[in-house]
Amino acid sequence: MKETICIVGLGYVGLPLAHAFAKAGYETLGYDIAEKRIGELRRGHDRTRELNEKQLKEVTMTFSADSEILERADIIIMALPTPVDAENKPDLSPVESASKTVGKHLKKGAIVVYESTVYPGTTEEICGPILEKESGLVCGKDFFLGYSPERINPGDKEHTVTKIVKVVAGQDEKTTDVLCELYSSVITAGVHRAPSVKVAEMAKAIENAQRDLNIAFMNEIALLSNKIGIKTKDVLAAAATKWNFLPFKPGLVGGHCIGVDPYYLVEKARQLGMETHVIDAGRQINDRMSKEVAMQVLNALDVSPAKARILVLGLTFKENIPDTRNSKSMDVVHHLQSAGCAVEVNDPYVSDEELKRMEMTTGACEENRYDAVVFLAPHREYLADVQGMINAVKKGGVFYDLKSLVDRDTIERAGRRYVAL
Ligand SMILES: NC(=O)c1ccc[n+]([C@@H]2O[C@H](COP(=O)([O-])OP(=O)(O)OC[C@H]3O[C@@H](n4cnc5c(N)ncnc54)[C@H](O)[C@@H]3O)[C@@H](O)[C@H]2O)c1
Repeated sequence: MKETICIVGLGYVGLPLAHAFAKAGYETLGYDIAEKRIGELRRGHDRTRELNEKQLKEVTMTFSADSEILERADIIIMALPTPVDAENKPDLSPVESASKTVGKHLKKGAIVVYESTVYPGTTEEICGPILEKESGLVCGKDFFLGYSPERINPGDKEHTVTKIVKVVAGQDEKTTDVLCELYSSVITAGVHRAPSVKVAEMAKAIENAQRDLNIAFMNEIALLSNKIGIKTKDVLAAAATKWNFLPFKPGLVGGHCIGVDPYYLVEKARQLGMETHVIDAGRQINDRMSKEVAMQVLNALDVSPAKARILVLGLTFKENIPDTRNSKSMDVVHHLQSAGCAVEVNDPYVSDEELKRMEMTTGACEENRYDAVVFLAPHREYLADVQGMINAVKKGGVFYDLKSLVDRDTIERAGRRYVAL
């Protein structure tokens, strides 16, 4: 008989995973502390837009904010947030608190698999003891631990959860066998059996840290190219003709993965008395980029900041998703505002309610209204009407194209000035 699965934390990661298990015929339960989220999911609405109403309704999933539901689960999959605090130190409190709850309802023989991005040692040295304490059971005898990092990319409808190879590790061979079999039954791309939980934890953290560093390098090259007076896009196009040049692009690194996970490695190194340098350098450059972007816009204006009206397009941390957490676009807005500019914002993925909460003034692509349009998160809706974005800039004004996606000549032919990172 198939195991009963309970996913704990039904966000960007947990919900698509629950759907995949339910679709493969597992009895699938979902537990989340957010009652509002549970209510919405029961009504067939996913505010993260990872699943549409049809997908939510095509399978049977039982969602609950009542932790008693955990008692039925043979396999519990933990998909909790792992942010950093104001000092960029890992904040494991959601993972710890959910582990306490799970411990209170843990069934003998159950496997608890962590999917959150953490530093090596978190699953076995922090979560295992919490589960033992709360359950009164013995880890490795009465219940078992596993780790399988999630690698989805929100908003990406091509690389969905079942199409990405899953790295899987258990605390012992038998647990790893069970988990490999379980994940293989839903992940069509297959599984990679990692030799230990710590290896799997480390692998996930370095995937994101590597991306952070590569983008940081491109950002530094973009800043230098700007100083030299050449276009970054031209430099990268030329360099990319070599077979082993890596095609990364400069940009803002926000969200709660790429810009956050490197700090988990830094903290682990610190705990072990080791200093990191490369990882920290990447973080410093990327964290500085929103200010650099704002400076580029301010330097390009032909009116004083106090007289400038600016429209920022795309507030979410990346395109085509509604996630504004740790969005660097917001930082760009704040820098422009601090310089005295009147900034209006637009984002089809962010609700009016949220914009109001963020105290933002909304604007839209009205003809000849702005001294600068700052195109940050390239949502598909914007790319479908490039002319509308260009026309919103006053003649002679600035079109700032963070990701160099709009044709420079088109903008210049329309009598506007083009600036890119
Ligand atoms: N979002 C991504 O694209 C992505 C990709 C790969 C890995 N990850 C990692 O996966 C993990 C989860 O990320 P996410 O984006 O799904 O987070 P999320 O914030 O979208 O979802 C987390 C969910 O957990 C719930 N929650 C918080 N505390 C809880 C508790 N004590 N008990 C029960 N539920 C609780 C929240 O209400 C929320 O619904 C993180 O470690 C993240 O780094 C995320």
